[in-house]
Amino acid sequence: MLLTQQGTTSRKELAWTRWVLQSARVWDDVAGIVRIIGIHAVDEDHRKFTQYALDLNLIIQALSNRDASFENLHKGNDIFRQLLDYAHIHFQREERIMRSMKSPMLGQHLEQHGMFLGMIEEHYDNFKQGRLQMVSGLKLSILDWWVNHINVVDYKTFVLGKTETMRLVK
Ligand SMILES: [Fe+2]
Ligand SMILES: [Fe+2]
Repeated sequence: MLLTQQGTTSRKELAWTRWVLQSARVWDDVAGIVRIIGIHAVDEDHRKFTQYALDLNLIIQALSNRDASFENLHKGNDIFRQLLDYAHIHFQREERIMRSMKSPMLGQHLEQHGMFLGMIEEHYDNFKQGRLQMVSGLKLSILDWWVNHINVVDYKTFVLGKTETMRLVK
């Protein structure tokens, strides 16, 4: 059920995944479409960050329904900060593991993380500048990217690329 492997994934499955991502509110709603990596700390990060991204979607939804109350703007701001802080923590963790397992995916993988941080920062800037229409148009992009990254890039790096050294990482 990988979002980018369109050749091997049926349209039905992709539509299903998209529908799940669009309608989900809590981790349990999406747990079934997020792959397990098998490193406890990494899987925990994935779960927590997914919940932040879902929380952000709810706020974006409220803001696009014109509920731009002070409370929602404040919550949105907090969630963006949590997303950025947590993404940094998680990406540093993955980088340490990749270095210790001497992963050939390291360069490519870090590039993806960098792009994602840039994307969140850009959304956050739009949000801070009150460009709510731009933020609301991007409802799925963070969650979508995140789940796709876990299922494709993290999976390839940490599960398919598992080495002897890595068996010691837990
Ligand atoms: Fe990850
Ligand atoms: Fe990653």
